[in-house]
Amino acid sequence: MKVAVIGGAGYIGSFTVRSLVESGHTVSVFDNLSFGHAAAVHRDAELVRGSLENPAELEGFFQGRAFDALVHFAALTSVPDSVRDPLRYYNANVALSVQLFTAMRKAGVNTALVSSTAATYGVPLQDRALDEEHPTNPTNPYGETKLAMESMLRATVVSDQINPSIAAEDRFRAVALRYFNACGASEDGLLGEDHRPETHLMPNAVRAALGVGASLKLFGNDYPTPDGTCVRDYIHVEDLARAHVMALEALFARRLDGFQVFNVGTGQGASNLEIIEAAGEAAGRPVPYSVEPRRPGDPPELVADSTRLQQTLGWKPRYTSIRQIAETVVRWYKGNPDGYPD
Ligand SMILES: NC(=O)c1ccc[n+]([C@@H]2O[C@H](COP(=O)([O-])OP(=O)(O)OC[C@H]3O[C@@H](n4cnc5c(N)ncnc54)[C@H](O)[C@@H]3O)[C@@H](O)[C@H]2O)c1
Repeated sequence: MKVAVIGGAGYIGSFTVRSLVESGHTVSVFDNLSFGHAAAVHRDAELVRGSLENPAELEGFFQGRAFDALVHFAALTSVPDSVRDPLRYYNANVALSVQLFTAMRKAGVNTALVSSTAATYGVPLQDRALDEEHPTNPTNPYGETKLAMESMLRATVVSDQINPSIAAEDRFRAVALRYFNACGASEDGLLGEDHRPETHLMPNAVRAALGVGASLKLFGNDYPTPDGTCVRDYIHVEDLARAHVMALEALFARRLDGFQVFNVGTGQGASNLEIIEAAGEAAGRPVPYSVEPRRPGDPPELVADSTRLQQTLGWKPRYTSIRQIAETVVRWYKGNPDGYPD
């Protein structure tokens, strides 16, 4: 397959690019490096520096490359920032996605895989793990923009299905993967998480323990959970990357059709305190932290039921222990305390 990866120099994108290349696919990355890193892009993938904001750059990227499929990672991703500046988020995650899908269709590409999020569910209505049938009701603009992107893809797929002038093989097909908490680094220490600033718990806990980052802020310890801290589902980024490759291959082989949504998580919850403990054990030093007030809009618990992905594609997470994941993060930060060389 010839795959276009938008935002492929970012955290999850760079792991997916590597996984695609290692599975024998030809990959071209389109990224403006606003948050990504050229050094994170696999050497056998092409890196085209360009922005979704620039129609000429986008069109130039599609010209002459004859892609079979597209994966879209590029987005603004911070929940608190989206509350502060919703229009910026709607522009980056909705308006620029419209530009992208318009350009891809113009170029004759009709297979797409996009990054969605557990934030589309909002506050869970149940204690058990969430499957894809759980109602979507995002509680912040970030989750709203991702749900809007899903909706525009679903509508485009349906419109092709009812259009008699479009042959079945030319109809638009798309998958949205709703990630829970992506984390981890590669076993060989070559790829890892390098967001600036870093807002995620696992990397910040490890950085605090190793003394390469500030003391950790733990937001709230009075939630209705066993130890009072929020519970999340931590999925190793290589397991996530593999889900992308499997979904793309299934779309390409027409084993998947129409518009499909899949949760990607382990099905196991870990509390913030458990992450702090695992990070400290993996680092060999305790994580220094302070307890801060709750952040508005943080649900007490978010755990994925990924049965649909497991049954449809035969995907299974290989990393099921947060300690094991924390060890990969420790290796990454020991080898790259300042992240990628930019
Ligand atoms: N990290 C998580 O835990 C998580 C969880 C759920 C969903 N997601 C979604 O997964 C996707 C990837 O997340 P990530 O953590 O890898 O983010 P990231 O910021 O590391 O990667 C995004 C990439 O897109 C690029 N980009 C952004 N705007 C662009 C533009 N206008 N033109 C070209 N390139 C642009 C950035 O330079 C970056 O390389 C995002 O869509 C995010 O919303 C992430």
